[in-house]
Amino acid sequence: MSSGKPAVRLALLGCGTVGSEVVRLLHDQAEDLTARIGAPLEVVGVAVRRLGRERGNLPIDPALFTTDALGLVKRDDVDVIIEVVGGIEPARTWLTEALRAGKSVVTANKALLAEDGASLHDAAAEGGADLYYEASVAGAIPLLRPLRESLHGDRVTRVTGIVNGTTNFILSSMDATGAGFGEALEEATELGYAEADPTADVEGFDAAAKAAILASLAFHTRVTAADVFREGMTGVTAADIASAKEMGCTIKLLCIAQRGPDSTGQESVSVRVHPAMIPLSHPLAGVGDAFNAVFVEAEAAGPLMFYGRGAGGTPTASAVLGDIVAAARNRLSGTRAPSESAYAHLPIRPIGEAVTRYHISLDVADKQGVLASVAGVFADNEVSIATVRQSGRDEDATLVIVTHGAPDANLHATVEDLRALPIVRSIASVLRVEGGS
Ligand code: NDP
Ligand code: HSE
Repeated sequence: MSSGKPAVRLALLGCGTVGSEVVRLLHDQAEDLTARIGAPLEVVGVAVRRLGRERGNLPIDPALFTTDALGLVKRDDVDVIIEVVGGIEPARTWLTEALRAGKSVVTANKALLAEDGASLHDAAAEGGADLYYEASVAGAIPLLRPLRESLHGDRVTRVTGIVNGTTNFILSSMDATGAGFGEALEEATELGYAEADPTADVEGFDAAAKAAILASLAFHTRVTAADVFREGMTGVTAADIASAKEMGCTIKLLCIAQRGPDSTGQESVSVRVHPAMIPLSHPLAGVGDAFNAVFVEAEAAGPLMFYGRGAGGTPTASAVLGDIVAAARNRLSGTRAPSESAYAHLPIRPIGEAVTRYHISLDVADKQGVLASVAGVFADNEVSIATVRQSGRDEDATLVIVTHGAPDANLHATVEDLRALPIVRSIASVLRVEGGS
């Protein structure tokens, strides 16, 4: 289909898992995209690291490939830069250069946005350019645009999400089969979910980057990955999963971003990533396999749920394409994407002030007065006990204690004091509990 209008010219930085699917979608949907935008899209260059790499039969002219990404960014005949390389540098240099020069940027780079989104937003403001990054959080799920646009008339109070597909697959598999972490990770690797080095996923770095991006958008405040409390899920055992089941719960690696008053009454933001027990009745409990889901609570809208594929070449490329269409339309109409909204400047609340509940499993000597000593530790730290379950016989007993909500610092201190108690032989597990009352 010919629109008669000159093409919007695209430069693609990266042609790996996501980039190659972007190329495929641009080719396969060229006619529809032209009709929707009102002008054709033309890829004028693709930057990669290895020119000789086998790329299957990608529908693109091999002569367009280059290893000179910066040279491509600087070309005068480029309108939109699509960055699907990842990492902080050289991506930051490329994108700031492009934005300052007034070129639109579409990126999936969560690591860069969470570490130094400020540089990109400042460069976009300087160059009067569009910066889109829908694919950076939760892959295919339309989530950032609703936060950035649709919910801008409302006040978001909390965002709770499963934003890492690899760890959700591992935890779902542990829950379904009773497997331990190592076994479930092996399965995730065999199926191609987990990367050769799964550290960023299982230690929560990937989810923390996404949490920072979500919190920044939800609360109109610049939040970086360093502001996010992070605890990975490598310590979750088959026994924890079994214990969660006994309580009618499951365990998920959650990102939780919340606004509210701190201990002095000042409005602030708390952002954390950690494994948590959630009741099976919670909307996130049924999110299995490698799927992602994000539960947003806003004052006027109430609860909203976003669900879908959070990773993989094609789902992620879908989000990238949506941003390309938006950026291309803006260029044709001479308009711009909504610029960064960071006016609130809310301070970050430390994890110690986050109110949560703990599930603690203790091995103790089954003697007279043990329960009273244990309960005393909770009372001394101003933590109220919700339920206590005892099992075991003769000399040994296991106590499973679930608390009411208390500041994380008090809960943490309780666990430390319990460790020091002579009648406590070991603390088998400590998990936070979210959702429910
Ligand atoms: P890949 O590792 O599969 O691809 C990276 C691409 O970047 C490759 O084509 C590589 O070239 C190219 N590249 C690396 N270094 C350079 C360089 N210095 N100059 C030019 N090109 C370079 O990554 P993904 O496609 O998986 O991820 C891309 C981005 O998308 C990342 O930011 C990631 O976090 C994000 N993302 C990924 C998702 C996924 O499911 N994979 C989901 C959501 C976001 P070569 O091909 O020659 O090796
Ligand atoms: N490693 C990430 C995940 C990719 O498993 O969710 C998507 O960002």
